Amino acid sequence: MAIAKANPFLRDLSAEAESRVAAPGTLGAYPQLRMRRNRSDAWTRRLVAESRLGAEDFIWPLFVQEQDGLAPIEAMPGAFRHGLDRLVDAVGRAADLGVPAVALFPYLDSDVKTSDCAEAYNPENLVCRAVRRVKAAHPDIGVVCDVALDPFNADGHDGLVRDGIILNDETVEILIKQALVQAEAGCDVLAPSDMMDGRVGAIRVGLDEAGYTDRKILSYAAKYASGLYQPFRDAVGSGGFLVGDKKTYQMDPANSDEALREVALDIAEGADMVMIKPGLPYLDIIRRVKSRFGVPTVAYHVSGEYAMVKAAAERGWLDGDKVMLECLLAFKRAGADAILSYAALEAVEHLNRANN
Ligand code: PBG
Repeated sequence: MAIAKANPFLRDLSAEAESRVAAPGTLGAYPQLRMRRNRSDAWTRRLVAESRLGAEDFIWPLFVQEQDGLAPIEAMPGAFRHGLDRLVDAVGRAADLGVPAVALFPYLDSDVKTSDCAEAYNPENLVCRAVRRVKAAHPDIGVVCDVALDPFNADGHDGLVRDGIILNDETVEILIKQALVQAEAGCDVLAPSDMMDGRVGAIRVGLDEAGYTDRKILSYAAKYASGLYQPFRDAVGSGGFLVGDKKTYQMDPANSDEALREVALDIAEGADMVMIKPGLPYLDIIRRVKSRFGVPTVAYHVSGEYAMVKAAAERGWLDGDKVMLECLLAFKRAGADAILSYAALEAVEHLNRANN
């Protein structure tokens, strides 16, 4: 009786059956209580798996630089900045593996960084040239571009800065222009990562008025002010320029209801997909967003999360491939439909090896 009360699954058992249940702390008499049966061999584990990772889950982020060639990124072993001469090949690798989309992030020289961020909406800027090349060579792979001012900003911030304040509405005006030059270059998915208020609606209207009704918006809807972006900021060369922090526009890691409000607003403003960022420390947010809104939900497995696994693996402290796949699978379990990860290609290659 005591067991039946303690265990809700046993409530329907008859008194006779209950009497056959062993005392607490010993193995129950019921075969259905043997949870290990479904774990006993590889084929059963495969059959009953609730979540699965595949090539189709990923967006692969790529760094682009003005100089030809490949430059390694110190804090992101295995990730590189790609010159335009190397970019098409890299995207081709992703396409061959069946990865649906890539995201392009520019590394810009300091001479194009200004406080008015004019380079952001130069139709010949590095991102636009990269998009044109990629779409010309691989028209069937999706191209995602960040819409935010940080790579172009002398202050390293995602918005215009005046007297130490990050200006909202003035920034949104520039973001529209930035989104338009990216769309004109062929970008399929505009991904505002700046966290200014009202930018999703403004970009949607801007795109529609210019005839780009087919272009998607993936909003960084719940983006937290996180320490985990540091390797990225080094990779795009914005870290050294950043004055202060991003806490007046990115979210406070203490908050979860606020993430739901952010997501609700972005959906109302026209976002086609929403992103939660960073990923692993915010799995609870992914789950809440997916359950509440049921919209395409993307997890951003950010640079610091990638770096942590790589660094520990380099020291032999854990098995990098195994842990990376475990982290990525966790996003699927939490409810993510897609994952933006620097580990996308290595994960797919690993999965392919395991399946062969
Ligand atoms: C900038 C941007 C950042 C990332 C994506 N877009 C950094 C930031 O907000 O400072 C972080 C990605 C990562 O860490 O992998 N708008």
